[in-house]
Amino acid sequence: MTIRIGLLGYGTVGKGVIEIIHSHQERIQALLGEPVEVTGVLVQHLKKKREIPSSILVTSDFDRLLLQDIDIVLEAIVGEEPSFTYCKKAIEQGKHVVTANKEMYAIHGKELKELASKHSVSVGYESTTVAGTPVIRTLQQLLQVNQVEKVEGILNGTSNFILTKMRQDGTSFEQSLKEAQQKGYAEADPTNDIKGYDAFYKLMNISELLYGKQPNWDDVYVEGIDRVDPTQILEASFMDKKIKHVATIEWKDGDVRASIQPISLTEHHPLYSIDGVQNGVVIHTDLAGPLTLSGPGAGASSTASGMIEDFITIFQQSYNNVHQFQ
Ligand SMILES: NC(=O)c1ccc[n+]([C@@H]2O[C@H](COP(=O)([O-])OP(=O)(O)OC[C@H]3O[C@@H](n4cnc5c(N)ncnc54)[C@H](OP(=O)(O)O)[C@@H]3O)[C@@H](O)[C@H]2O)c1
Repeated sequence: MTIRIGLLGYGTVGKGVIEIIHSHQERIQALLGEPVEVTGVLVQHLKKKREIPSSILVTSDFDRLLLQDIDIVLEAIVGEEPSFTYCKKAIEQGKHVVTANKEMYAIHGKELKELASKHSVSVGYESTTVAGTPVIRTLQQLLQVNQVEKVEGILNGTSNFILTKMRQDGTSFEQSLKEAQQKGYAEADPTNDIKGYDAFYKLMNISELLYGKQPNWDDVYVEGIDRVDPTQILEASFMDKKIKHVATIEWKDGDVRASIQPISLTEHHPLYSIDGVQNGVVIHTDLAGPLTLSGPGAGASSTASGMIEDFITIFQQSYNNVHQFQ
């Protein structure tokens, strides 16, 4: 039997998913014992020119995609809706879901997980948070025994690139942002990155996983990097410090506390050396001590990799009759 995938979105991430399924088919088959194919792709603009094999249905009608007898939906479209409605519908019809959509998942992740549990399917969301760098999986495994006291992260590569550029080249925020856009690291509308919202959604996904809840969104201090000026960076450098955009979540005084803001770090901090577009996460645990993971937090290959790893785990678990990521 073939495992059939319905793919939502054929942008940066969607294309990456199809490429990996093609380039790693042999490896995937060896792991799952069955061939895997994408049978349908959902897009918004049907008239766009795309190089998708004619054997794959390309549609803008989600119900038509579901009729394809698919086993799993890999979701890589943008924004809360219609992503949430589609994921919900897929789960209600007994399909597993893997998503890369941090915004949708920060808002509806809990509901989707509960629904998935009711329908005996799984939801994977590794790529919502630091793309394919396995932060979610690491936290899920650490949760077995270790108590995670705090997580600190550089969760947005665009912000990190801009701050690194300002420090290394003495350029202004505006110049550094322009370079990030020219290199394809920042969107034409970079608001979500530079105002801290992108990091905020990722942090909320970590919070939900770690503590089973999120802080009240209005109580989270969120400051982007758009007000950091070169003088602050220079002053930090004189004291051998670096200004980094750090998202922090911890359990304190019986509740979850979170903040996202530019902070100056000394060289002793594990995030000090995370420069450029790299992301980094420090997980403070009671038994294993502080653990640092670093890697790409975006990009076609890394993000699609996280989704495929989720996909593999879901099928391995379902063969073993173990349901549900946390
Ligand atoms: N890019 C990254 O590095 C990265 C990293 C981590 C997570 N993510 C997440 O992954 C998701 C996809 O990102 P991306 O960079 O691949 O975006 P993208 O390049 O803008 O592609 C989005 C795709 O979704 C389709 N789409 C958008 N709205 C739709 C709708 N209402 N109905 C059907 N299809 C729709 C678009 O269709 P058309 O092609 O017809 O326009 C396009 O194919 C986002 O949620 C993002 O936050 C991305």
